[in-house]
Amino acid sequence: METEEEKLRIGVFVCHCGFNIGGVIDVPAVVEYAKTLSNVVCAEENLYMCSSAGLSLIKECIKQYDLNRVVVASCTPATHEPLFRNACEEAGVNKYLFEMVNIREHSSWVHMHHPKEATEKAKDLIRMAVAKASYLKPQIEPELEIEPSALVIGGGIAGMTAAMSLARQGFTVHLVEKEAELGGMLRRLHKLQPTERDASEVLREAIIAVKANTNINLHMSTLVKEMEGFIGNFGIKLQKKNPNELEQINVGTIIVATGAEAFKPVGMYGYDENENVVTQLELEQLLKNGELKEPKKVVMIQCVGAREKTGRTYCSRICCMVALNNALLLKKLYPDVEVNILFRDLQTYGEYEDFYREARANFINFIRYDQDKPPKVVSKRDGKLAVTVYDVYLGADVEMESDLVVLSTPLVQHEDGRKLSPVLKVPLGSDGFFFEAHPKLRPVDFTSEGIYVCGTAHGPKDVTESIAQAYAAASRAGIPMALGKIKAGAVKATVDKDICVNCDACVVSCIFNAVEAESFGLPNIVEANCKGCGVCAAECPMGAMQLIHFTDQQIVAAIEALFKPKKLASSSKTFEPIILCFACQWCSYGAADLAGVSRIQYPPNVRILRVPCSGRVDVLHVLKAFQNSADGVIITGCHIGDCHYIDGNVKAKDRVDAIKKSLGALNIDPKRLEIGFASSSEGQKFAKMMTDFVEKIRRLGPNPLRVKRGGD
Ligand code: FES
Repeated sequence: METEEEKLRIGVFVCHCGFNIGGVIDVPAVVEYAKTLSNVVCAEENLYMCSSAGLSLIKECIKQYDLNRVVVASCTPATHEPLFRNACEEAGVNKYLFEMVNIREHSSWVHMHHPKEATEKAKDLIRMAVAKASYLKPQIEPELEIEPSALVIGGGIAGMTAAMSLARQGFTVHLVEKEAELGGMLRRLHKLQPTERDASEVLREAIIAVKANTNINLHMSTLVKEMEGFIGNFGIKLQKKNPNELEQINVGTIIVATGAEAFKPVGMYGYDENENVVTQLELEQLLKNGELKEPKKVVMIQCVGAREKTGRTYCSRICCMVALNNALLLKKLYPDVEVNILFRDLQTYGEYEDFYREARANFINFIRYDQDKPPKVVSKRDGKLAVTVYDVYLGADVEMESDLVVLSTPLVQHEDGRKLSPVLKVPLGSDGFFFEAHPKLRPVDFTSEGIYVCGTAHGPKDVTESIAQAYAAASRAGIPMALGKIKAGAVKATVDKDICVNCDACVVSCIFNAVEAESFGLPNIVEANCKGCGVCAAECPMGAMQLIHFTDQQIVAAIEALFKPKKLASSSKTFEPIILCFACQWCSYGAADLAGVSRIQYPPNVRILRVPCSGRVDVLHVLKAFQNSADGVIITGCHIGDCHYIDGNVKAKDRVDAIKKSLGALNIDPKRLEIGFASSSEGQKFAKMMTDFVEKIRRLGPNPLRVKRGGD
C-alpha cells in the first residue's frame, strides 16, 4: 500500500449535516477517533461539509497537511460524491484517491434512538474507508472523441421530438422507424388530454417538421440489427425490409424511443368473442373514425391485465385518465349514455383530478371492485352484455346491462423492444420496459454511456410526458456531442497476465464483450466496452482479473478493518452480532439510502460496503468476512431482471448458493450468508431485510470462528 516514494497522508472530514448527523452521532468523538487511525494525519469536522466553507476546509487541509488520500464521512455518495471529488481535484488530489462514507442515511437517520451505537458504527465505517483509501490508486480517465450525430430509434412522438430537438441544435440525426409511416401509437389516438387537441393534428405538425429538417435522415421500414462501439463512436448496422439490405452508420449517441403497445386482453371479459367488448385504444379508434354505434349503456373496467399478483404487477399510470377522457367524450357525443366505471383504485394525478370531478358532475358512475372478486361479463342472446360486479362499498353484487364494455388495459413492452435490448446491451426492468440508470439521478440515461431512453419504451406515460422526456433525452445526448469529447470513467476491468491461467471464466462471464481472448488465449480488456460491474473479477479463480477502484485488495482491506481492531467480545451477556452487508451501488444502496431518508429504523449491527454490482462480490470477500469474525454476511442487489449490468445479480445468487454449500467445511452455518434484492424505492423492504437478518443471526449466536479466536 505504501510505496517508498509516497507516504500515505490521509485526511478525514466528518460532517455534522446540521442536526442530521450531529444530533445523533457524537461527531467530535468520531473525529478524535479518526485521528488515531493509521496514516490519518488530519481529521476535521464541519457543520456542513458540502458548503463552500466545508469544501474550502478540505482544500486547505489538503495543502496544509500535504494529503494524498481524502475520506469524507457525511451523506450519500449518490448525490455528493462528485462535489467532494471536484474539491479534491481542485486542490491537486486525484479524484480516485477519495473515499466517501455515508454516516447519515446509513447511520444517524436509521439509528436515531441509538446514538451510542450510531457513533460506533460511524467509527467502523470510517475505519473501513480509511483502510480502503490506503490502497486507492490515482487514475487517468481516458478522453473519448464524440461524433456529432445521433441515432434515434422509434418514429413515434417521443422519437420525433427528440430528433427535432437534436436537429435544431445542429446535430445530424438518423431517425429509424420500423413501420413505413411515422407516428407510432399517436396515429391511433383520438383527442389528447388535457388540451383536447386532435391527436392527428399534433401528429401532422410533428411529421411536417421532421420531414422539413435537413439535419434529419429518415430510415423508414428499418430495424437496428447490430451495434458495436461505445459513446462517441457507435457503429450501427441498419436492416431494411429486405434482410440482405444492410446499411452502416456511425453515431456518437443513441436515443431509444421505441414506444410500447396496449395489452390485448384475449380471453378476458369476452374480448375477442363479442365485438362489443373493446379496449380503450380500440374505442378511441372507433370514435376517431366515426364508426361507433351510439351506445346506451357503457361499462368500463379498469386494471384489466394490470396490477396482477404475478406477471404484469405494475400500474400502467395512464389508464384512469384515458377512461375518464373517453367517458367524458362519450357523454359529450351522446348526453343520454349511461357510463359506469368499475375500478380498483383511481389514480388521476396532476390536473387530471379535474377530469374526475367533471366526470362526477356529468353523472358518470364509479363502482369499486376487489381484485379477488373481479367483474363478470356475460354475452346475452340479444347481443347485449350482462355485467355483474361486487361493489366493495355496498358489500353486494350489482348487476347491469351494457351494450359496450370497454377494457382499460396496460401498456406493455412490444416484441421489437425486447429484441432491441440485447442488441444495444441495455437492460429491461422486471416490468419489461427499458430500465434507466437511476430513477432520480439519471432518469433518461442507461448505465451504458451515450445511450438514452424516452417515451413509453421506458414505461407507461401520456403524450405530454413522453414529449417532456424526449426533450430531456435529447438534451442529455446533446451534451457530449456539443463538448466534442468526454472523459470516460476509470472503473474498468484490468488483468494481470502473469497470474492468469487462461481459464476463460472472465471471457464467458462478460456479456458486454469487454473481455476477449487473445490469440494465445489470454484475456484482453476492451476498455470501451467495459461497464465496470466487476463480474469478471469475481468469476476469476486466480484473482488475476481485477476491477479498478474495487480491487480485491481494497475490498478485503475494508473487511479486515471492520473486524481487526474491534474488541469483539464484550463482558455483557447480550450478544450483538456484526453483520457485513454488500450493497450494489444502484438499487440496494439506493434502498438503504431511502430507508434513511424515510427514517425507517433497523438494528445498528449492519455495516454497509458499497460495490458496483452484487455480481462483484467474490467468494474471497465472503470467506474473508467470516474468517475475520463476521457473524453474518448479506449481499444485496437489484431485483432479478433489474440489474444495471443485466445479470450480475443472477451470477451473485448462483455464487451465494455455491458458497453456502461449502461453508459447512468451515463450521459456518450456511444460514449466516444470505442474498436479498430491493429496488431503490424499497427502503422499507431493505430495513426489514436487515432487521430479519440481524434477528436470525442473533438466534444463531456468534460466528464459531470468532469464538475460537477468543473473540467472545
Ligand atoms: Fe444492482 Fe447488479 S447493479 S445487482
